Amino acid sequence: MEIKQIERIALIGFMATGKSTIGPLLAERLGYVFIDTDELVEAAAKMKISEIFNNLGESVFREAEHDALKLVINMEKAVISTGGGIILFERNRKLLRTKTFVVNLTCRPETIFKRIQGDQTRPLLDTEDPLKRITLLMAERRKYYEDCDFQISTEDFSEIECCEKIESAYK
Ligand code: S3P
Repeated sequence: MEIKQIERIALIGFMATGKSTIGPLLAERLGYVFIDTDELVEAAAKMKISEIFNNLGESVFREAEHDALKLVINMEKAVISTGGGIILFERNRKLLRTKTFVVNLTCRPETIFKRIQGDQTRPLLDTEDPLKRITLLMAERRKYYEDCDFQISTEDFSEIECCEKIESAYK
């Protein structure tokens, strides 16, 4: 029996590691569609993620995020970019593990901190000391991010190099 290769890549990783930059580029190179679960949630709720967090609470966002993942998880030839917290839930980890080639994008906390300077759209980093929060959240989540098929640091390689390396690991 021929074993069909999974024709679907999921990008996981902490906020601002480059999922929404690498994702469309990778999709274009592979001739795949690009899907972003955060965008699906915002479109369904007709609200920005920060508004969902502030007005309805994080748990409402997490439900909507799971619904968005379920909606796209069987799409053929797709690169799915996920929100940084999607891996916090076993229900999402299970879908990603069984249905996609999981790529974890990584960065040092200091780099994330620099990248999110002035960005008001990240409710979880809206604190007195964002670098401390980033470092803490990353440490808590590391074991989930590292449960992947391939991982690459987006600060050590160019966007094109990242795509090339992901493609050769995938094929
Ligand atoms: C989150 C990451 C965000 C977004 C939400 C929660 C997280 O997505 O889903 O603000 O828990 O890390 P990005 O990783 O695309 O910024």
